[in-house]
Amino acid sequence: MAAKWTAAEIPSQAGKTAVVTGANSGIGYQAALELARHGAMVLLCCRSKAKGDAAMAKLLTAVPEAKVRVAVMDMASLASIRAFAEKFVAGGWALDVLVNNAGVMALPKRELTEDGFERQFGTNHLGHFALTGLLMPQLLAAPAPRVVTVASLAHRNGKIQFDNLQSERKYVPWGAYSASKLANILFAKELQRRATAAGTALKSLPVHPGISMTSIVENGPGAKGLKLMVINRLGPLVMQTDAAGALPTLYAATSPDAVGGEYIGPAGFMEFKGAPVVVQPRKNALDEAVGRQLWTVSEQLTGVVYPVLG
Ligand SMILES: NC(=O)c1ccc[n+]([C@@H]2O[C@H](COP(=O)([O-])OP(=O)(O)OC[C@H]3O[C@@H](n4cnc5c(N)ncnc54)[C@H](OP(=O)(O)O)[C@@H]3O)[C@@H](O)[C@H]2O)c1
Repeated sequence: MAAKWTAAEIPSQAGKTAVVTGANSGIGYQAALELARHGAMVLLCCRSKAKGDAAMAKLLTAVPEAKVRVAVMDMASLASIRAFAEKFVAGGWALDVLVNNAGVMALPKRELTEDGFERQFGTNHLGHFALTGLLMPQLLAAPAPRVVTVASLAHRNGKIQFDNLQSERKYVPWGAYSASKLANILFAKELQRRATAAGTALKSLPVHPGISMTSIVENGPGAKGLKLMVINRLGPLVMQTDAAGALPTLYAATSPDAVGGEYIGPAGFMEFKGAPVVVQPRKNALDEAVGRQLWTVSEQLTGVVYPVLG
């Protein structure tokens, strides 16, 4: 990896198709912008058509020649994910890059998705598990497919409690978020093991954006008063921009040097900010038995079994 990898090093993505979830905001938007700038056809997957259209208009102002489309998909709804996947499959496209990015963080009260999953586990992990499985035939139709799954430093405090996956016994806002982000890494690594065992060329990489200035706080735990003032004052010292936060995603999605299964995050102090490099998740993310069990439980909960890799 170059000493300081930047978006300028993204190779041409011409002829490639990319799907980015949560593409209207923050890291997802920045990742979509750079993929489009480098020639990919990018599907901006957003739960709100209005937000998706606004993001597409902004992107086209920055890159007028961009090939972008908006697709409405709610990652907290298996029906919505299935409807999107069915349309994509019917379109007959191969899928070169899937960016599993959409996410919600530390919701103050326990909320459920329309399928009855705890909202963070349901959106951040189960929704993306289902989407990736449903799009697998399209991914495997591409010559060098990549799946990038956006995790978080928060995985370090995460615990997969198979008897409390939906926080049904106890809900702790940050605990539920950390578990969902740990699930992201366990999933990405298990996907890589399965893809390799099946002899496919698919690369699956978990990544994390350090601490980046996006809408995730206001959409989750919220901040007002003194807390908001502290964030605004100290934020720029420890946080990076959303564009910098998207670099691990972009490196994993495009760099010829990226190795499937590697975890990519910022190089700086405590991995808060900096150029993308290979980083190490905590041991809890490397437990292959938990990764396999989580896969089986995710199949059962979503009803999605992966063709070829199942
Ligand atoms: N920012 C950080 O410091 C940080 C750190 C670690 C990890 N991350 C991860 O980075 C990813 C992107 O977050 P961000 O920081 O860029 O935050 P953000 O600006 O709030 O973006 C989150 C995106 O996810 C979308 N989303 C949420 N729920 C959805 C659903 N049910 N269906 C479809 N889309 C949904 C949001 O759509 P709406 O606009 O409609 O809400 C938005 O587009 C997340 O997975 C997050 O866990 C971020």
